Amino acid sequence: MKIMLIGSGGREHALAWKLAQSDLVEEVVAIPGNPGIAREPKCRCLELSEHAAMAEFATAHGIDLTVVGPEGPLVEGIADLFRSRGLAIFGPGQAEAQLEGSKDFAKRFMMKHGAATARYQSFTDSVQAKDYVRTQSFPLVVKASGLCAGKGVIICQNEAQALEALAELMENHCFQEAGSTVVIEEFLTGPEVSILSLYDGENIHILGSAMDHKRAFDGDLGPNTGGMGTIAPAPFFSPAAQADFLENILKPTERGLKASGMKDPACIFFGLMLTPDGVKLLEYNMRFGDPETQSVLMVLESDLAQILDKAVHGQLTPADIQIADETALCVIGAAQGYPGVYAKGIPLKFNPSPDIKVFLAGATEQDGELRSSGGRIFGACARGSREEARSRIMDFLEQFRDQPIFWRRDIGGHK
Ligand code: AMP
Ligand code: GLY
Repeated sequence: MKIMLIGSGGREHALAWKLAQSDLVEEVVAIPGNPGIAREPKCRCLELSEHAAMAEFATAHGIDLTVVGPEGPLVEGIADLFRSRGLAIFGPGQAEAQLEGSKDFAKRFMMKHGAATARYQSFTDSVQAKDYVRTQSFPLVVKASGLCAGKGVIICQNEAQALEALAELMENHCFQEAGSTVVIEEFLTGPEVSILSLYDGENIHILGSAMDHKRAFDGDLGPNTGGMGTIAPAPFFSPAAQADFLENILKPTERGLKASGMKDPACIFFGLMLTPDGVKLLEYNMRFGDPETQSVLMVLESDLAQILDKAVHGQLTPADIQIADETALCVIGAAQGYPGVYAKGIPLKFNPSPDIKVFLAGATEQDGELRSSGGRIFGACARGSREEARSRIMDFLEQFRDQPIFWRRDIGGHK
């Protein structure tokens, strides 16, 4: 098989690494990819910016399967374009991508099909939205309906904050069109769990669970980030919570997709909260999570290329997905200052360790020199027992002690 992989982050590096391990795979072409992907066996990177050019390349080069990482191209309709040209692609069309791209659409879908979620109301009129929050108790969650690169969720402690959030989103258009519709939701509490699952047009199969660490610093302190590390499987996802999720979230979603004629093969990422009232669905992402994918793929024993190929052909079975009885951790090395203004161009040298897999994210290569280019630079991953994996990663990261790079030391360190 020849595989085309779209994206350039740590998630895509992990996908490329795992896909390339398959005996079925001859080549992985990443668009645009990153220097970490370029160094993996069987992988190469190519710059193409237009979706049409990617589809033409796929046809001309005999690509058997395309896998899409980020949500942007999916919401823009890359999967519809590929399918209209008879190209196999793993990823939702524009219609299904709305489950991620519009929180209002997603909430209506959850309610209609009975997936357990937080109570909410949607508004397109700021006067009505403001009247509504005046009747609510706090904390209350105000969300921009559209895509805001993870910044569109505002937890409001009181009425004044909620009114300000609504003014910013709906009147000052701080996220442009993304905030013209808002979802106002009850505030829930509990540990969060990310589920990565594969939908083959018929059934949703769980690929793995993980726990993300969104705050910048140890002890869940500091600002929200794109994710500072993950542990897979998710430690607090008990058998009872799993059964609750299957019955009250996964099955209704599966029924809803079929009833809506949504048949496109996709990774469905369920963002869950384990509340005292049961498992609730906070959101769908219609793509692989970052950095969840890194740790979930570390413990996946099966051949990912084969699994995705089967999913695209509607033939996935539970037996196809084998997960090791071990724990994987991914700890992100981020540039000093992230998620605010951060250092760029940090020279990167890795003293490799046989037990650590490094997935590059915000890094570029110039004249053979690796340098940081983004806030989240790389993910250091290991698998084993939780303690083994954790201490190996912490030892490995010590080499960056004198660099303007920071990482959380508490990932996988829970009691
Ligand atoms: P979302 O993009 O909807 O997943 O929201 C991003 C983050 O905001 C989640 O990972 C939660 O930490 C938080 N969040 C979202 N909805 C709620 C809610 N109803 N109650 C409490 N926290 C929430
Ligand atoms: N780690 C959360 C996400 O990928 O959206």
